[in-house]
Amino acid sequence: MKDINIGQAQRLTAPCPFALLSAKRADGGTNLMAVSWWSYLSNHPPTLGVCLSKKGLSGGLIRESGEFGLSVVGEQLKDAALRCGTCSGRTVDKAAEFEIPLEDAAVIAPQVVSGSRVVFECRLTDTKEVADHVLYIAEIVAIRGGEEVRQLFAFDGYARLDSVN
Ligand SMILES: Cc1cc2nc3c(=O)[nH]c(=O)nc-3n(C[C@H](O)[C@H](O)[C@H](O)COP(=O)(O)O)c2cc1C
Repeated sequence: MKDINIGQAQRLTAPCPFALLSAKRADGGTNLMAVSWWSYLSNHPPTLGVCLSKKGLSGGLIRESGEFGLSVVGEQLKDAALRCGTCSGRTVDKAAEFEIPLEDAAVIAPQVVSGSRVVFECRLTDTKEVADHVLYIAEIVAIRGGEEVRQLFAFDGYARLDSVN
């Protein structure tokens, strides 16, 4: 082994989890953001965390509404989902622009991605500032899913999405 930096470590530990985070915009629409830094945090109550850069739009939207969806999208959205990680909802309506199908959630206000492998509906319970990111901790208030959809993972330092065999 040799000394490596954090970016190199993140490439080496692929495949990374991947999901599209949805949050309610001020105009009532739904913003989508690519997220690899998410994790289960607790089973009772079911809780997960997403770690978001302070630079993007989504963190502020979550703080304002207290809710977000996390859709573990399928391989049919491979290209469109990656594009949600390359531009901000400040300038692009990503769901409309990249033709990502949304549907109403069961409990929360933001819409979620149709045809996902798993959709988590989340209510914010806590935040923790972590240097240049903020960890958003949220209780999972509804979960839906099905194994017929093949899951996408991130590779190559978050530059590529693919399913695994
Ligand atoms: C595969 C992939 C995974 C990403 N994971 C994260 C993440 O976990 N946290 C984060 O802050 N940004 C992540 N990003 C970058 C954001 O998706 C990107 O900054 C996005 O433009 C933010 O959108 P917003 O301004 O609409 O919130 C990822 C990008 C890609 C392509």
